[in-house]
Amino acid sequence: MSKLVVCDHPLIQHKLTFIRNKDTNTKDFRELVDEVAMLMAYEITRDVPLQTIEVETPVQKMESKVVSGRMLGLIPILRAGLGMVDGMLKMIPAAKIGHIGLFRDPQTLQPVEYYINLPTDATNRLLIVIDPMLATGGSAIAAINSLKSRGCEQIKMMCLIAAPEGVEALQKAHPDVEIYTAALDEKLNDHGYIVPGLGDAGDRMFGTH
Ligand code: PRP
Ligand code: URA
Repeated sequence: MSKLVVCDHPLIQHKLTFIRNKDTNTKDFRELVDEVAMLMAYEITRDVPLQTIEVETPVQKMESKVVSGRMLGLIPILRAGLGMVDGMLKMIPAAKIGHIGLFRDPQTLQPVEYYINLPTDATNRLLIVIDPMLATGGSAIAAINSLKSRGCEQIKMMCLIAAPEGVEALQKAHPDVEIYTAALDEKLNDHGYIVPGLGDAGDRMFGTH
């Protein structure tokens, strides 16, 4: 079973409360999501390997650490995943970005892929799939299926809010993929929305509701 990490840092929890609030306007929603993504970048990269290099300070030479190992790739699921990219990039500026376009069919709740574009060296990177909502898990599972079918092997999932149903489905489909979320909510409702959740993440991010 893959690891589930709930990022319960007080700053993340504080900001998430305002993200959830239905009265938070689009501008503030976007800014808060950006800030939480930045803080979650810190958590999700906690185990990246380091190597020692020599650096010369104004005083003397010393050995110091830099990130080594696989470079990162960020894979937002369109649309709502886009809102978390800039915050991640502030912490990981060398990451390359790939995009996967998926929407949930409102009747079947099944994900439909309409776009994919990955960095040419995606198979050599640690990929972080980004989507604020892990509801039924269908979109995340489809995105990761798509990445694996193209030879990508090292993948993590990052979301803001997960439903237990989505976590279970993703862990079952992809037991190798660690899941990082800012909150694990109660359940899904009959329309596949996370309860209590934050509503429709894409609509709130882009002001389309
Ligand atoms: C939302 C959300 C996820 C998906 C989660 O996208 O951003 O991608 O639903 O649901 P699931 O876990 O049940 O698949 P939506 O389909 O509304 O598309 P949008 O981002 O373009 O609004
Ligand atoms: N997608 C959303 O945007 N919100 C939910 O609660 C579930 C899926």
